[in-house]
Amino acid sequence: MSILIYPGSFDPFTNGHLDIVKRASRLCDRLIVAVSENSNKRSFFDSAERLSMIRTCLEGMPKVEVTSHAGLLVDFFRESGADAVVRGLRSESDFRYESEMATANKLLCADFEVLLLPCRMDLALTSSSIVREVASFGGDISGMVPEAICAYVTRRMRVK
Ligand code: COA
Repeated sequence: MSILIYPGSFDPFTNGHLDIVKRASRLCDRLIVAVSENSNKRSFFDSAERLSMIRTCLEGMPKVEVTSHAGLLVDFFRESGADAVVRGLRSESDFRYESEMATANKLLCADFEVLLLPCRMDLALTSSSIVREVASFGGDISGMVPEAICAYVTRRMRVK
């Protein structure tokens, strides 16, 4: 059974993330979407909210499960028995960042592998921060996040 992990801070989950989930799930038997912590970021949505939003978006995808983990990604990778981690690539700068993380993770765990999927061009310039920024000014984020969580994200950003 092939297992892939798709980790990210998902603050919030966007259409770009959804596209990667759909494509990655076709490449494995089981895809674990893992809400992870990036120590360089302070999240707006707490872990429980992010999990709940992602689960709402991914309902009805039998191969996909959603969970969270604390600590190092390589530890979660080992515990899950995964074959590889999937990451989306939006740009050259993403490539550099992903290469650095892959190198560090490989030094920590010799079995660690990463699959880099190029993002859809029309979604390549979106990010969770842009979604939060637009929503905080009352802008329309319906083209940026899955319909299932659009109203929730908009409402939460207004009451921050
Ligand atoms: N479409 C659109 N946007 C995308 C995208 C896609 N397909 N993929 C990523 N993004 C955006 C995200 O929304 C995010 O935007 P933001 O910076 O405004 O929040 C940005 O690209 C990068 O996010 P993401 O790819 O999810 O990376 P991350 O920095 O949130 O996640 C972790 C990095 C959490 C996986 C990494 O820090 C980690 O492994 N943490 C665990 C601790 C650890 O092991 N650290 C050592 C790592 S070497």
